[in-house]
Parts: sequence; structure tokens; C-alpha cells
Amino acid sequence: MLQEKNIIIGISGSIAAYKTITLVRLLIKAGANVKVVMTPASKEFASPLVLSTLSKNPVLIDLSTENSWSNHVELGRWAHLMVIVPLSCNTLAKLAHGFCDNLLMAVYLSAVCPVVVAPAMDEDMWKHNTTKENLAKLSSVGNKIIPVDNGELASGLIGEGRMAEPDAILKFITDFFNETEIKKDFRNKKILITAGPTYESIDPVRFIGNHSSGKMGIALAEEFTNRGASVTLVIGPSDQNISSNISKTIRIKSAEEMYNACLAEFPLSDIAIMSAAVADYTPVNTSDQKIKKNDSTFTIELQKTKDILGHLGRVKSANQIVVGFALETNNEREYALGKLKSKNADLIVMNSLSNKGAGFEVDTNKVTLFHTSGKEFDFALKSKKDVAKDIADVIKSYVNV
Ligand code: CTP
Repeated sequence: MLQEKNIIIGISGSIAAYKTITLVRLLIKAGANVKVVMTPASKEFASPLVLSTLSKNPVLIDLSTENSWSNHVELGRWAHLMVIVPLSCNTLAKLAHGFCDNLLMAVYLSAVCPVVVAPAMDEDMWKHNTTKENLAKLSSVGNKIIPVDNGELASGLIGEGRMAEPDAILKFITDFFNETEIKKDFRNKKILITAGPTYESIDPVRFIGNHSSGKMGIALAEEFTNRGASVTLVIGPSDQNISSNISKTIRIKSAEEMYNACLAEFPLSDIAIMSAAVADYTPVNTSDQKIKKNDSTFTIELQKTKDILGHLGRVKSANQIVVGFALETNNEREYALGKLKSKNADLIVMNSLSNKGAGFEVDTNKVTLFHTSGKEFDFALKSKKDVAKDIADVIKSYVNV
């Protein structure tokens, strides 16, 4: 049922932690590979020795011990799914605000896989506005929340907030994987995606760049990978984690390098999605040595870079689809429609910096897609992961998958 599935069980401090012993047993019986990460507080509620015996892996608690350092990044990339169970109020608050004061938090923050949480708390805490806001924050970045039960609570009271039972959590996990399997709708497609900024060198220490983080392009690469596509991600300088499940990642620096990588990859691709913030201009001359400060003003002569999207739009064949992005600050619609036409793209994804929560560096985006047929698709503000799903769904309606 869960063969070949790598699952991290993250345990935080709550009485309900004792149920993770049954859950780990059920997961192992279902064929999953399980690694357990615990917060220091949760050791009081479930025995690391029992959990390590059941999971057949050492239980990880500390970021480092005297002799070793737990590689949370590697762990985050190993997993197909991370399940935080139980999710205490304290760990919920930390997840919502990105604290990183224990190994569980470090693994969460570096995980590139989907994350599921199973909250457990007393009814009053569950119903507190802060808890609601924190849970909404988790949902907004794409995490899935297992509903709580109504029943006997640790306080002795009866009410809402009781953690779901292990068999219900197992069902949630298997349903999650089954849905993802069914949705392998881009199984036979090869997709080229650009992401991140480009850096144009002025001299060995300086460059012209921009604020793009690469998050939107990475979210697209992960979404198409999860849906069965073979993805080549061409990405400029970015400090984001990139899932090792993506078929091919090519790291470049300059617009010229991105152009060359795309030129080589495009003939092999069914779909190209250009989400990178490519520099429009690059210095005419790059100094081999650091430029010294002399006069009170300094001028750099710039020349246009090659328009990658424009080029792919011109050379595409009848069965290739080319998708561009338009990040605008004003006259958004007009400029986006202009780009759709001038670059001969099939679709343009428009996002505006005038929308709060959209654009560079943030985890959310709000997009409108324009197709050459004149059709428009307008979406609400969502996590970049959910925006990637919407974009994939729209593209799907124009490809034979
Ligand atoms: N793009 C590209 N190569 C470039 C510049 C942009 O492939 N040298 C792509 C981007 O990845 C994006 C689209 O073109 O998909 C639109 O980029 P944008 O910078 O918004 O448009 P430009 O054509 O550069 O126009 P302007 O900067 O004047 O808005």
C-alpha cells in the first residue's frame, strides 16, 4: 500500500504522542520507510527507544550531538511526505512563524515534500483565535490539516481538539498518496521551466541582479514532477531547496547561460514555462579586475539580453506549448496581453506587484492567465504551491495528456 514511500514522522509534545507508536507500526506494516524526528518535549510522552525499534531507524531529536550533526536538509529531501503528529499548540505557533529552535523545525523548514499535520489540543486552545490564525497560515502555504475529533481530552473534558486516531491518520496518508498517483496526468510530458533571477557581471565582485527568489518556478517544477512529468529546471542563483525528485536541474548565472541552456533543452520539450526574471540588459563590457572608485559618477553601458521566451515562441513547433510570465506594476492587463502577442506565447501568466502578497520573495501569488484564444483564467491569492497547481490545470486543458 505504501511501498517505496519515505515518510518522516515529526512528533511534538502532547499527550497524544503515545498514539504515534501505533501509527509508526501501521505505516511499517503498510510498507513505508519511516524516520522519526522528535522535539525534546515529546520524549516525555513517547519512548524514542520504542519508536526507533518500530521504525527500524534511529530516532532523531537533536540538531547535533557531541560527535555528529543531523543533516536536516538531506532528511527533508529524502521524504515523500512529512507528517507532524501530534501537532501541539507550541509547535503550531513555531511552524506558522518559521522558528528554528529544534531539529523538527529545521526539518520542516527545509522539507521540499508535502506536509500533513495532525493537531492535538484542549478545546479552549483549539478554539482560540490565535490557533485558528496559525492553522490558516499553515494551510496558506500548502500544508494539509487532519481534522481533529470530538471526544475525551487530556484535561478530562469532552470536546473538540482530540487528535485523530492512528487508523484515521493512516487512511489520510494512503488517500493522499493514492490521489497523487491518480493525478500523474503529465506522465509522458517533458517540461522545461526557467526560474529565479539572472546575475549579469560588472566585474569579479559586482553584478546586476533582481529580487526573484525562484520560489514560483520551483513550485511549478515540483508540481509537474509530482504529476509525472520529466522536468528540466533551468535556475539562476537561488538559495531555495530544490527537490532531488526533479529530473534535471541546470544551474546558471547569466541571461546568456540561461538562453543557451534553454536552446539546448527546448527541442526535447513538449512544454516550456518561462518563470525566470531574466535581466533585460547586461553590461557591454565586463571587467576582469575589480573596478576602482574614481569619479563621483560612474556609468555602465548596457546592451539588451536575448529574449528567451520570444525566441522559443518564434521557433516552437505546432505541438509545443510555450508559457510566459508577465510581472507588472501598472497597466498589467495591457502589458500582459502585449507580451502574449509579441512573444508568440500560448499562455501568459500575469502577476502584479500592486497586489499585496504577490511577486518576489513572498510565498503567495495572485495570477491571471491569458490564452491566445482570448480565454482568461483569474485566480485568488494563494500559496505558490497552489498557484502552480492552477497553472498546471490550465495548461492541461490545452495539451493532450
Ligand atoms: N524573458 C525571457 N528572456 C528575457 C527577458 C524576459 O525569456 N531576456 C521572459 C520572462 O521569463 C517572462 C517573460 O519573458 O516569462 C516576460 O518577462 P518580462 O521581464 O516581464 O518582460 P520583458 O519582455 O522583459 O518586458 P519588460 O521588462 O519591458 O516588461
